[in-house]
Amino acid sequence: MPNKKVSKALSLKGSIVIPPDKSISHRSAMFAALTNGCVEVENFSTGADCLSTLNIIRTLGCEVEFIEEKHIKINAKNAFKNTSYNLDCGNSGTSMRLFSGIIASRNIEAKLFGDESLSKRPMKRIITPLELMGAKIKHDHYRAPLFIQGRELFPIDYKLPIASAQVKSCILLAGLNTYGETKVTEPHISRDHTERMLKYFGADITTDKNTTKIKKSTLVPRNIKICGDISSAAFFMAAAAIVPNSEIIIKNVGLNHTRTGIIDVMQKMGADIEILNSDKICNEEAGDIKITYSDLTGTTIEGEIIPRLIDELPVIAVLATQAEGKTVVKNAQDLRNKESDRIKCLVSELQKLGAQIEETPDGFVIEGKQQLKGGTDVECYHDHRLAMSLYVAGLISQEPIVINDFQWVNISFPEFESLMNRLTC
Ligand code: S3P
Repeated sequence: MPNKKVSKALSLKGSIVIPPDKSISHRSAMFAALTNGCVEVENFSTGADCLSTLNIIRTLGCEVEFIEEKHIKINAKNAFKNTSYNLDCGNSGTSMRLFSGIIASRNIEAKLFGDESLSKRPMKRIITPLELMGAKIKHDHYRAPLFIQGRELFPIDYKLPIASAQVKSCILLAGLNTYGETKVTEPHISRDHTERMLKYFGADITTDKNTTKIKKSTLVPRNIKICGDISSAAFFMAAAAIVPNSEIIIKNVGLNHTRTGIIDVMQKMGADIEILNSDKICNEEAGDIKITYSDLTGTTIEGEIIPRLIDELPVIAVLATQAEGKTVVKNAQDLRNKESDRIKCLVSELQKLGAQIEETPDGFVIEGKQQLKGGTDVECYHDHRLAMSLYVAGLISQEPIVINDFQWVNISFPEFESLMNRLTC
């Protein structure tokens, strides 16, 4: 399905179960590989990125058995027995950055490589702290492939220049196998799935405000159940909030506070959102989200909330085209370092559809409310989140749009279109 035609929707109605959380799925497979035992994971993401992580743990010596489509059993008894590995991270920044911390702190060597897009993404952010810990890493101007010669490291007390869960997790995973106390402080809190899951597996890890400390620990195998991905739910939340006459329920969505910035922003914009049936699964909050179409007003999104909704900003831009007044996004310069330059690419494609959106160095400014004209082709720049955000824009465009290379959606959300078809009339 390379090119996808999307036409205006009359409404979204019904309820869906959202696919498993990508960030939690990655971590479940990685940490299971470190337990030296057997771990069952229920509701593991089948997006291409998480399958890259599964292939990596297989290469590292784990047996991975699919009990059902999204239910896996990982046997890590023979993991890390070789001395040298070739690890293909595909398109996945999370795989490359987190495995770098794991490899650098063990007596093994590995080449970590990825596809064209991942090979362009910045790795200095992890190479610098790992080198401060004593790691040996060869790289091409701080880009992948990374050649890591693992060894005994030293603990550090590191302050991240920008909030990043991938960088924080990389350092914590290196600290997990390092004598002494490794300490990481972020300017604002980013997603904390690593901290929660390492604690769940018995690691000596504590968090106080923006600082997390970890000591060398042995992980104990425990089974895991994964909730739905709020970053995937975001496309449906935005669509239901802007397609008239919509009312949907999205079931079993992860509601960890470090990920719920989208709910806070949408509510501030006037969206009608209700949380139903909240629960806690394996140290992570989850619940159902009900969204009903309503009038929206523009807002400013900046500061501490940015890491809590960094992946949702492209679809928030689409939402903001339907809000009365100005929406300003600031302090989001790291959006330029994602699977695409999400500021530049998003602005250019939404402008093609007729949106009044302007690029700024660290975000964008949108003037609403506007009728998107559509009637044109748009590019997703090999970026799954841009592909899905543009799809939502198609649902409110006057004329149908065509999204080229829509297959990139499979990186995180292979079921996206079938779920959308189930809701749209
Ligand atoms: C992720 C962290 C975020 C996010 C990415 C997944 C994670 O990246 O954008 O999609 O699972 O840790 P940064 O750490 O680069 O902000």
